[in-house]
Amino acid sequence: MTRTSDQDLTRRLGTRAVHAGQIPDPLAGAVMTPIYQTSTYIQEGLGRHKGFEYARTRNPTREALERNVAALEGGRHGFAFGSGLAALDAVMKLLSAGDHVVSGENVYGGTHRQMTHVWTRMGMTFSFVDAAETSKIAAAVTPLTKLIYAETPTNPMMRLCDLQAAGEIAKRAGALFVVDNTFATPCFQRPLELGADLVLHSTTKYLNGHSDMVGGLLVTDRDDLAERLGFLQNSSGAVPGPFDCWLALRGVKTLALRMRQHDASGRRIAEWLTHHPKVQTVYYPGLPSHPQHDLACRQMSGFGGMISIELGSVERAKRFVERTRIFALAESLGGVESLVGHPASMTHASVPPEMRAAMGLTDSLVRLSVGIEDVEDLMADIDQALAEA
Ligand SMILES: Cc1ncc(COP(=O)(O)O)c(C=O)c1O
Repeated sequence: MTRTSDQDLTRRLGTRAVHAGQIPDPLAGAVMTPIYQTSTYIQEGLGRHKGFEYARTRNPTREALERNVAALEGGRHGFAFGSGLAALDAVMKLLSAGDHVVSGENVYGGTHRQMTHVWTRMGMTFSFVDAAETSKIAAAVTPLTKLIYAETPTNPMMRLCDLQAAGEIAKRAGALFVVDNTFATPCFQRPLELGADLVLHSTTKYLNGHSDMVGGLLVTDRDDLAERLGFLQNSSGAVPGPFDCWLALRGVKTLALRMRQHDASGRRIAEWLTHHPKVQTVYYPGLPSHPQHDLACRQMSGFGGMISIELGSVERAKRFVERTRIFALAESLGGVESLVGHPASMTHASVPPEMRAAMGLTDSLVRLSVGIEDVEDLMADIDQALAEA
């Protein structure tokens, strides 16, 4: 567990991304945080040491990353994990058998899988609702509800959850409100300021931004939650290695710059796709035609580079994803390079088909992660692939 300094929390986002949580290396004054590739630390005598005893519990590279991302989210405590799903695992361990969770139905497939196939076996119960409709969240709350969980925008339907309204429901129910902020990043949305108790990230995505590590992170401003999460992080031990933390830390430094480009290209491509004859529907919160565009403008300061498109037939979707030349067909998102995916058979294959159908996640839906390449090249690539689809 590491604490963000008050000074870091008063700076603007681009400055925080570069500097927050970074302490000049005490040995040589290295400006960049060293990779403390060690499992243990020498002790001067019994019980006399520099505060570091064993690297599962504390590692200076990991702590620099935790302080940095915590500062970006406007929270005082950050906890890094070996993946986004390991971070979710820690969240769920805040609960006990018998507890009930209300979760958005449209969450990352692996999130849904962990909730239904791991935690139900441990005696927890779940209600999955369309979190775009606040009344459905409220209606699902029971006296046993201890957690409300939402992704916004959702993967891959790009639906939004009204964070302030959902936060108020959680507060009234005495439940924790946890928000997966992986898609928007703290550049465009800060759930803690809108009532969330905890923010979750797959750092694998935009925070690292270079598709070269897997990691997760939790941020909270609550001391009581921080105490418990620090205990869980150390007790369950799903911590990332120092090299992956260093990669994520290096990636985060350019987050504000990268997100500006993802957002600019995302807006341009989404708008252009609405006029494309081969595309039936474009799902992107930055479009005025998005049913929650007003909410998007209220709670987000940018819309990012994630776009889903409905192509009308599975054959067309298959031909499209196999014909793009710059957009690589791959799982994951949020890197500098553009990726294309087929959620029904890739990221959301573990979600039951009837649940996918209920949320509009068809077999002909394609998800684009717009990278930072020249936008004209990306549009030309999509255009030629659509022509052949
Ligand atoms: C929105 C979202 N949350 C969480 C995760 C899980 O993160 P990880 O793959 O790092 O375990 C993903 C992975 O794709 C995701 O897209």
